[in-house]
Amino acid sequence: MDFTTTYMGLGLRTPIIAGSSGLTKSIGLIKRMADSGAGAVILKSLFEEQLVQDPKALSEQDEMYFRYPEVFEYLDKFPVEDGVEAYLNLIQEAKEAVNIPVIASINCISATEWTSFAREITKAGADGLELNIAIYPFNKNVDSQTIEDTYIKILKGVKENTGIPVSVKIGNNFTNIYRITNRLDEAGADALVLFNRFSRPDIDIQTLKPVSGSTMSSPQEITESLKWISILSPELKCSLAGATGIHNAGGIIKQLLAGADAVQVTSTLYQHGIEYIGKMIDDLVAWMKKFGYSSIGDFKNLMVRNEDAAALERVEFMKKTVGEVE
Ligand SMILES: Cc1cc2nc3c(=O)[nH]c(=O)nc-3n(C[C@H](O)[C@H](O)[C@H](O)COP(=O)(O)O)c2cc1C
Repeated sequence: MDFTTTYMGLGLRTPIIAGSSGLTKSIGLIKRMADSGAGAVILKSLFEEQLVQDPKALSEQDEMYFRYPEVFEYLDKFPVEDGVEAYLNLIQEAKEAVNIPVIASINCISATEWTSFAREITKAGADGLELNIAIYPFNKNVDSQTIEDTYIKILKGVKENTGIPVSVKIGNNFTNIYRITNRLDEAGADALVLFNRFSRPDIDIQTLKPVSGSTMSSPQEITESLKWISILSPELKCSLAGATGIHNAGGIIKQLLAGADAVQVTSTLYQHGIEYIGKMIDDLVAWMKKFGYSSIGDFKNLMVRNEDAAALERVEFMKKTVGEVE
């Protein structure tokens, strides 16, 4: 069986990428990912705020920091093992320890001086860099165009500072996902990760206190990513990774059929253990054998959506409304 795939210009031996999380923050865990059959690992993210010389200068650029000064208190408390030096060492050591691509990750919200840090990541030997761009659109004075322009500026700023492939992980909170993904593609993204999963706060009606919703995704959450991968895969030049809600071989197969080049998995590894990657590969083999496929290329893209996606959505919605039970 041939599981190889190409993602952001990198050859992967399997399409299963260990997503960025606490499960990719130490050499021991990264080795287990590789031993279990992961095609690549995305290291836990550094925060942009950790990379600027004077984090408080950020207050001048983004009024969010006035509203949430505890960001700085939190930064001061960052343990040394989660600091920048340790991160660069982690990249170097991971490269020595495993023979699969090691992709660094930065969680960012602005295109400020930190983008030059991409050079340090490159020097440390990372095979690629994933930008988890997470601009929370909670400011009525900032229009959508400005927010989208920031995504492009961040990507271009980072690309100017590195020759390694750069991917962008985004959420699905855009008015026009079609346009932002096309713009990122044109601006030189080597891959897009669709989609990030944001916090899902809830309310406890007994204590009347806010509580955080589940940190882990559920398999039902795959559909949003699947829909957009199937729409965008025939359209974009860059690679695509499906993310969020991929919990088993079935989820991986669906994403590949929809045109994803690879998938990222996190919650399922927290829930079943890192070695579950091996079980997902076994189940993938069984499915491929059943259908007579011997390589990923035999079935990748079989279920892309070439129809007019907007018209299809509208018709589907109308059908549902007409068929509604009184
Ligand atoms: C405990 C935990 C820690 C995470 N840490 C990061 C992180 O540092 N950087 C990042 O880009 N995503 C992080 N994520 C998000 C995951 O990479 C992934 O996008 C998300 O969990 C959805 O994928 P899943 O459905 O496979 O879990 C984290 C997720 C979890 C559950």
